[in-house]
Amino acid sequence: MKPRKIILDCDPGHDDAIAIILAGKNPAIDLLGITVESGNQTLEKTGRNALNLVQYLGLDIPVCLGASEPLIKQAEVCPAIHGESGLDGFDFDPLQRTYDPRHAVIFMIETLMQSQDKLTIVTTGPMTNLALALKMEPSIKDHIEEVVLMGGSIAYGNVTPAAEFNIQFDPEAAHIVFSSGCTVKMFGLDVTRKVLVLPEVVQRMHKIQTKSSELFVKLMTFFNATQKQVFGFEGGPLHDPVTIAYLIDPKVCKLDFMHCDIDISGGSSYGRTNCDQFDYLKLPKNTYVATAIDVNRYWDIIESSLRFY
Ligand code: BDR
Ligand code: CA
Repeated sequence: MKPRKIILDCDPGHDDAIAIILAGKNPAIDLLGITVESGNQTLEKTGRNALNLVQYLGLDIPVCLGASEPLIKQAEVCPAIHGESGLDGFDFDPLQRTYDPRHAVIFMIETLMQSQDKLTIVTTGPMTNLALALKMEPSIKDHIEEVVLMGGSIAYGNVTPAAEFNIQFDPEAAHIVFSSGCTVKMFGLDVTRKVLVLPEVVQRMHKIQTKSSELFVKLMTFFNATQKQVFGFEGGPLHDPVTIAYLIDPKVCKLDFMHCDIDISGGSSYGRTNCDQFDYLKLPKNTYVATAIDVNRYWDIIESSLRFY
């Protein structure tokens, strides 16, 4: 089978880093580039983290800087989970790699418009870059195979009772993407909070003894400590790589098609993904939402990905 061509839009971030590991060398994926925005930390920091990751992993792909702020809200970054650098817990060598000069939004538009094949856009951060690209060049929609995103939740949130971080960081951007008419596949907290990096997972990945497993273990040790402090979890939920794991092996998640809209009212549910799982509203269905995950299959995908580096 031809590898799936993707652009990964992210805000690294510990779990974004593992998503990059999964996407970088798997034969099922052709990673065309990484676009970055603010989210877990400021754009300056998430951008530097992305460069450090591609340098460490030896990935020869463009890294483009994008939006430094959400469309309307003020940026509220997340040092409590990801530390001051946005990727605390690992010491990288001095940085030699540099950014691609194109703005992330321009890179997305040009790459989509010039490609013979349709491309998949994977977002593991707020969706500011993709929303801007859709507004700047609406015809990119015809070149998008699907949007595969980590974000949202059918049930409860992780930054407010109602909202998940990536969507709550830029609800208006998410609204633009969800109502764009693109095929949207949402991997939210309902599934990502089932894949916890428990001590046995860290031990299993530690045994692999590759460059990327060393990175995994150090990053997850930091991530688990902050997840314990903030949420009381014994193992942090490994959110973002679920998107790439799904592209590598779609059997990892069960998806249900439903209507979903984003709360952009500015009230206490601002940024909530209203997923009409039981079709109460009889509105047109627009989103495939992950409702179950095969946890063992997921860790197998993570393990095999760590063996590529
Ligand atoms: C999401 O928020 C970020 O902190 C993580 O990187 C992930 O993308 C989980 O809510
Ligand atoms: Ca992220």
